[in-house]
Amino acid sequence: MNTKTSILVVDDNKELCDSIKEYLEHEGYAIGCANSGNDAISMVHSIGYDIALVDIGLPDIQGSDLVVKLAEISPSTDFIHITAHATLDSAIEAVRHEQVVSYETKPLDMNHLLALLNQIMKRKKMEEALLQSDKLKSIGTISAGISHEFNNILAVISGNVQLMMRAYKDNGELVNALNIIMKATNDGAEISNKMYDFAKTEVDIKEYVTDDVGVLIQQSIEFTMPRWKNMAQANGISYHIDIDGIRGESEVRCNSTEIREAFVNIINNALDAMPEGGKISFSTLNKDGHVFIKVTDTGKGMIEDVREKVFDPFFTTRRPEGTGLGMSIVYSILSRHNGKINVKSEIGKGSTFTLQLPIYTRADAKIKISEIELVPKSNNGLHILVVDDEEPICDVLDKFLSKEGHMVRTVDNGAEAIILAGVSDYDLVLCDMVMPEVFGYDVIRALNDLERRPKIGIITGWGEKLKPIEDENIKVDFILKKPFDFSEMMRLIDNAFSGI
Ligand SMILES: Nc1ncnc2c1ncn2[C@@H]1O[C@H](COP(=O)(O)OP(=O)(O)OP(=O)(O)O)[C@@H](O)[C@H]1O
Ligand SMILES: [Mg+2]
Repeated sequence: MNTKTSILVVDDNKELCDSIKEYLEHEGYAIGCANSGNDAISMVHSIGYDIALVDIGLPDIQGSDLVVKLAEISPSTDFIHITAHATLDSAIEAVRHEQVVSYETKPLDMNHLLALLNQIMKRKKMEEALLQSDKLKSIGTISAGISHEFNNILAVISGNVQLMMRAYKDNGELVNALNIIMKATNDGAEISNKMYDFAKTEVDIKEYVTDDVGVLIQQSIEFTMPRWKNMAQANGISYHIDIDGIRGESEVRCNSTEIREAFVNIINNALDAMPEGGKISFSTLNKDGHVFIKVTDTGKGMIEDVREKVFDPFFTTRRPEGTGLGMSIVYSILSRHNGKINVKSEIGKGSTFTLQLPIYTRADAKIKISEIELVPKSNNGLHILVVDDEEPICDVLDKFLSKEGHMVRTVDNGAEAIILAGVSDYDLVLCDMVMPEVFGYDVIRALNDLERRPKIGIITGWGEKLKPIEDENIKVDFILKKPFDFSEMMRLIDNAFSGI
């Protein structure tokens, strides 16, 4: 279903051109023929060929000069010279230009040529995959940074909105407007979290469990049932989900939630591509220590330009509903699991995504979650230290926690927090993670070393999960993600002090 490899044959010998064309077309290549240098130039202007076979001795231009011109027009084309003589000099002359990857002598050995073309295409594909992964890595770094900054900004907005909602709860009109701001803030937080999910590179294999791919697919199909069954039926549309191709067990070590999320995204995209109904087929194959999972839909398919960008973050053809983050997250999830994903699709002929994951062979790894000692204590009038380099965040937490009857002190850096916590007895320290100079982790380590250890809550714009808790020196009692919800914060504080 993929676009064919395109090859331009440039030779003034028309019969030779035609015979190469016939042979290679039979092998599945798309061939263009030019019998002069000028023809070749105009053809390359309209199509960027993958490979060009260029005769050295053309009547209107030297083959090697033609390569220079063609390479300028189409820098991604690889060139093979065709020469009549197989002398060393002619070979050196033939591969003089860096884009000339090889030369073939006449009469052509077609089997040799075919092997060479396959080899070139294999290398080109590997280079493309590398480029794609480099590109996505850089976008990931940017996305992670933006997501972090956004969460800080959103935390200030949502914190103040929640304060105002409490202060002016009798003013219906104002509360309505605040609700709208809150909803927009939550939407923003959702996008920001998706960006973080895409950018996430760290893998916490301690959280990995062994799961069967077939079961994960089944669960993802169930998750999406409201869309492909209930809602579709209500609109008179019918979808068929075919799982007959799922063969045997394929156990993988994974974060099951993430793998299900990957399948859910793929299913949702397939449904988006089949507004009038259609079929989604799943199949699995265990081979060479990997499970290959194919998901095929009978939807509208993709043009080449879309197919090439499908894993790019923010690339979408479904504006304004689509964020374009779905498939970039899938790509990132697969990479984190040492897996791969690729797509084959043609317009009007549906799409097939092939996912590849390493199969788990039983060598056990147990998940250890260290216990946090919980001291029951009343949670009124707590002494709370808030550490965040963003002043507006300190302000909003100060206001909220003070209103709840706690005694709050705020500091904007880790060093001061460590000193303060050493001299005063705090019941709770709420600590940001990413701060200049002294990092949140350092503050938490220092707090854990105190004789009278306060309860510790991380407030973070990143997606840290249980990781820090599992490290002996950085025990924390809860993690609150920015932008925070005050009710959630109160619940976490309550839990931390009530031993639940
Ligand atoms: N199965 C498919 N069939 C046709 N086009 C697809 C398919 N899957 C993805 N695409 C194309 O790739 C684009 C990117 O997909 P992606 O899931 O990343 O974003 P989205 O679906 O547009 O938005 P969202 O973030 O809501 O998922 C889509 O807009 C669509 O053009
Ligand atoms: Mg999508």
